[in-house]
Amino acid sequence: EKQGYDTFMLKEIHEQPRAVADTLLGRFDEGRLHLDELQTDEREFGRVDKVFVLACGTSRYAGMVAKYAIEHWAGIPCEVEEASEFRYRDPILDPHTLVIAISQSGETTDTIAAALHARDQRAPVIALCNIVGSTLAREADGVLYTHAGLEVAVASTKAFTTQIVGGLLLALYLAQQRGRMYGSEIEDILGRLQQIPSALEQVLELDGEIRQLAEQYQAVPYTMFIGRHVGLPIAYEGALKLKEISYLHAEAFAAGEMKHGPIALIEDGSLVVALAAAGHVFGKMVSNIQEVRARGASVLAIGTEGSTADLKANADHVLTLPEAPHELAGPILSVVPLQLFAYHIATLRGEDVDQPRNLAKTVTVE
Ligand code: M6R
Repeated sequence: EKQGYDTFMLKEIHEQPRAVADTLLGRFDEGRLHLDELQTDEREFGRVDKVFVLACGTSRYAGMVAKYAIEHWAGIPCEVEEASEFRYRDPILDPHTLVIAISQSGETTDTIAAALHARDQRAPVIALCNIVGSTLAREADGVLYTHAGLEVAVASTKAFTTQIVGGLLLALYLAQQRGRMYGSEIEDILGRLQQIPSALEQVLELDGEIRQLAEQYQAVPYTMFIGRHVGLPIAYEGALKLKEISYLHAEAFAAGEMKHGPIALIEDGSLVVALAAAGHVFGKMVSNIQEVRARGASVLAIGTEGSTADLKANADHVLTLPEAPHELAGPILSVVPLQLFAYHIATLRGEDVDQPRNLAKTVTVE
């Protein structure tokens, strides 16, 4: 059932164009975005004045991307938090607070408990979930399903990219229900998002180049990932993927935080992976790249067609991705080279990528 691939993880990485296309399918009709499967009172969404996104691990990083979209398109304040932290503090919730609980499996104990905690305080809960009929899906007031298909590898890949799509759809839906965006505007954005599957195919063609980089860096003991804005959750996700399957030390930082401490770690031979798509924070990323390089780091930059010329003058290696059809959708493309980089490093080091040590696919204990 690996369909010719060596591992489930590699198969699932390659399934992303299809998974993303399926998650986008059939959402727009008669001038409106429909998320019928949510099965909640449509008007309720128009009254939301605060959003909490609760999740664990990779799903939380998808939630961070959703936050930028919810604030930008829907104009609603949004917080993202580890489900395991949320349930042990005293969050202020009321019926106008929307809780979005993100979980691939729908069986993660912490996420379910956080959702129930919110529901007890009369906040409506929407699950963004991949498994139909899972506990979270059943307990929530409404569900938006991602259509990633079964994800077997412990390291989440296609579930993550489809969760980002789901988060963007929820943000657009909230914008529509609040009257912040009109049908034509939403239709235009959705039309542009339809280009993502073919852009993902293009990104997957970088595999050979990424494998060569992995060969070069497979013995680097510490890798630092840096990003800003939507590049930041992808920096976190890139570091998590590398730790999970290669067992090498990896950390991620908001690039602007480097000077406040982490840059002290940089020395000759350090590897820094920089998320550096063209966009409103690109100039700042270039300064951060220059700073770490001046202290001896080798920099692998993940750029886009519009940023690659500047990056070539500043970084040691540049991977050039197609331009995303919208800046907020950029992470769906930029995470893929980091999935492949972690994958190749781990396999070159002889690790079992589908079943990494100490980890379970679904964490059903606290
Ligand atoms: O099933 P969930 O989305 O609730 O799982 C959450 C995390 O356990 C999961 O994303 C984990 O971080 C992955 N192993 C990451 O690759």
